[in-house]
Amino acid sequence: MRVTVATLAEKKRKGEKITVLTAYDYLTAKLLDRAGVDAILVGDSLAMVALGYPSTVQVTMEEMIHHTKAVVRGRERALVIFDMPFLSYQTGERDAVLNAGRALKETGCDAVKVEGGKEMAGVIRAITEAGIPVIGHVGLQPQSVNLYGGYRLRGRTKEERVRILEDAKAVEEAGAVAVVLEKIPADLAKEITESLSIPTIGIGAGPFCDGQVLVFHDLVGLFTDFKPKFVKRYAELGREAEEAVKSFIKEVQEGKFPGEEHSY
Ligand code: KIV
Ligand code: NA
Repeated sequence: MRVTVATLAEKKRKGEKITVLTAYDYLTAKLLDRAGVDAILVGDSLAMVALGYPSTVQVTMEEMIHHTKAVVRGRERALVIFDMPFLSYQTGERDAVLNAGRALKETGCDAVKVEGGKEMAGVIRAITEAGIPVIGHVGLQPQSVNLYGGYRLRGRTKEERVRILEDAKAVEEAGAVAVVLEKIPADLAKEITESLSIPTIGIGAGPFCDGQVLVFHDLVGLFTDFKPKFVKRYAELGREAEEAVKSFIKEVQEGKFPGEEHSY
């Protein structure tokens, strides 16, 4: 049975953890779906992980749509979330609805995600009223990296803690079906999770969230440019793949590949 936004709400009610991972292509989506994740996020981390941009700010609607279409073709069961790229919703409610609607119509995704708290309440409400489920994203908001000048932990001061809690509440009140909490202290994430009726999905937000999200390429050790503390590497596929490629090079150079069994 397909996972829907109602499934996520039900999981929170039952106290069952929600699992979310990123994918940017057909093959990865199929792998995650088969493994049984609840939702696949086509994150704008696509920018850095798959396209080599310096931050998430550079990725476009066209690029996000292109990759999300591939992900949707690979899923059978999981919910697919389209991460709204920078400047596709910050310019106003009309732009936000048009771009979220484009994502839904052109890719077949199930929901969209937008970064921001109180200041995004209008946008979240407008997209929701158009019939498109929205997932919020508060705490560290990577699309605002240039404003903050880095990716430091959020919610360290009393003022910041209050603000993030208010942001999460505003996102819920605006109609969001879930909210991502990024890089905030575990006790703050716990407080937010207990205060909201919608599910919280944490990344670098401790164990008390209703669910967890990670970037797939981090989890399997394929993206190794940097490793935040909150990442757990469950495999070292990058290292293994590099060894495989080296073996191929060596065997070709030595005339060992292709062998008889690979030849016609
Ligand atoms: O873009 C992304 O991958 C994300 C998640 C890590 C939450 O926004
Ligand atoms: Na993102």
